[in-house]
Amino acid sequence: MLEKTRSESLPVELKYWPVKRYMDVYRKSLDDIEDFWEQEARKLEWFRTWDKVLEWDPPFAKWFPGGLINAAYLCVDRHLKTWRRNKVAMYWEGEGGEEKTLSYSQLYREVNRLACALQKIGVRDGDRIALYLPMIPELPIAMLASARIGAIHTVVFSGFSSMALADRINDTEAKVLITADGGYRRGKTIPLKEIADQALEHTPSIEKVIVVKRTGQQVKMKEGRDLWYHEIVEDAKEDVAPLPVESTHPLYILYTSGTTGKPKGIVHSTGGYLVFINSIYQWVFDIKEDSVYWCTADVGWVTGHSSIVYAPLMHGASIVVYEGAPDYPRPDRWWEIIEKYKVTIFYTSPTAIRMFMRYGEEWPKKHDLSSLTILGSVGEPINPEAWLWYFKHIGGERCPIVDTWWQTETGGIMISPAPGIGLVPLKPGSATFPLPGIDADVVDENGNPLPPGVRGYLVIKKPWPGMLMTLYKDPERYKQTYWSRFPGVYYTGDYCMKDEDGYFWLLGRADEVLKVAGHRLGTMELESAVISHPAVAEAAVIGKPHEIKGEGIVVFAILRQGYAPSEKLKEELREFMRKTIGPVATPDEIYFVSKLPKTRSGKIMRRVLRAVVSGMPVGDFASAAAKLIGLGFQGSITPETIA
Ligand code: PRX
Repeated sequence: MLEKTRSESLPVELKYWPVKRYMDVYRKSLDDIEDFWEQEARKLEWFRTWDKVLEWDPPFAKWFPGGLINAAYLCVDRHLKTWRRNKVAMYWEGEGGEEKTLSYSQLYREVNRLACALQKIGVRDGDRIALYLPMIPELPIAMLASARIGAIHTVVFSGFSSMALADRINDTEAKVLITADGGYRRGKTIPLKEIADQALEHTPSIEKVIVVKRTGQQVKMKEGRDLWYHEIVEDAKEDVAPLPVESTHPLYILYTSGTTGKPKGIVHSTGGYLVFINSIYQWVFDIKEDSVYWCTADVGWVTGHSSIVYAPLMHGASIVVYEGAPDYPRPDRWWEIIEKYKVTIFYTSPTAIRMFMRYGEEWPKKHDLSSLTILGSVGEPINPEAWLWYFKHIGGERCPIVDTWWQTETGGIMISPAPGIGLVPLKPGSATFPLPGIDADVVDENGNPLPPGVRGYLVIKKPWPGMLMTLYKDPERYKQTYWSRFPGVYYTGDYCMKDEDGYFWLLGRADEVLKVAGHRLGTMELESAVISHPAVAEAAVIGKPHEIKGEGIVVFAILRQGYAPSEKLKEELREFMRKTIGPVATPDEIYFVSKLPKTRSGKIMRRVLRAVVSGMPVGDFASAAAKLIGLGFQGSITPETIA
């Protein structure tokens, strides 16, 4: 059965379940969500069974309270009792072509040695550990070592700046930082320890810094504070008992951008989170112990937490971890890796697919990709053209594409095809249906469900085990951000539309959050970075559709007296944004203006600026404003001026 999409149809048939059959399973799961999730929780090993499935004190949920569990035990120890003890847990490939393979028993040893070393330097149950590492085996090892002893990790993406690192360390009051001397990117080294040292000047909570020797570059080691990773694990014990923690004990805190200047610390539980991702990775990726699973995300994002580390390892799969850039040294680097490790499940972002489309299909054609069975997409809406290219040139028209919608907050996938249950007919560009146990809907401004074909807001109407517990140290903001717009339901911040067949089409963010190459950045956060530059008095930041990255960053800046607009200053601002937030925040376009369009109450009218740069006039006002900017107009673009 072929399903018509908005623009195209699938060229071949896959083995499908009729939608009705999937919907029967789905609807049944919602009859009694507690009973449903309790059955799922039984699939994991617990040290003690929960007293209750759910304690729901809206909007705060405690899943499986009273249950005792340990994430490292589930990801590692459990496999040692089976044939998997000598199977590969991790294939690691360095950018320069080095290889490292860790079996489950080797992974066990490494996790234990670091856990022991952490205990020795005083890390205890509930302490926070910050990880600022490149994509090397020590990163998953450090997460698991932290979980093993009941510590809480906060991974900071290694592309973030020293300021971003310092902010996250200070917010969590982390005691220990684990970093590396450097990392590789496109053949160059990134001086991670040096960047960390700048952050460490402002982080009083840090007592010890553990440094992995990766590049061998010169670094300064501070006496009494800095320790080499290889030295502290050398004589460490290889057996540290996993600490059974209560189900609601935080497993990690991960920062993500919101609609204010300050990133939010998303707190995930241990029990609920693990139950949730254990089930959904089976449903969505049909993951099995013989799967070779490669998620190309960086562990610094939630995708990496759930899809590189916790879910595939719980399932006893072999994971692939690649250190470097996707197209380095050649555009077939990824396809070479798939062929080499016989990857069966491949999970990446639409931005990456669009980039490879540009390089052309001759690059994947050079490689045998026949091991692949399922392809995934995540992080931003996938356009049908990219979907079809992925399906044809990477999946050989055999592999279903699972377009997975989720968020840092949701912990795991919420809306996606589920071949592990029954694959519904796919429509390129649609994430299809919510997964079992997820009560998702599309509503209008007032929270009323919308008929097919009308764009509205995506909401989740019932709690689910993978949901964030709160925002770190800020429960009020948690309530406000997610649960106040539509009382009693979770507001995702995304636009969505259901079609006549009930398929969900994700239509981008409805708030001031950008997705640049799948990375999440807040306009306010970007604006506060721009205005911290001495030349800038005021700034507005908006997103603009970008052919490859999905969205690009556009900055409007009003200069302070004494500064004149110039190309040199634009370049300086670009560099400044890279330094302040990280290379992901590099603006695509910068405009110097003398005024910004504002409402009477002084709020910047980003809608107007968006209309201006995207050339989509919103009434006469915006087209007039566009004209003014197009003519290099340096004056005011307030509604008053244009009228
Ligand atoms: O706008 C949605 C978009 O990414 C946002 C969440 O970003 P983040 O917390 O960084 O997590 C990304 C990876 C899970 C969402 O609010 N998004 C994510 N997946 C999709 C998507 N938009 C459309 N389709 C998707 N499959």
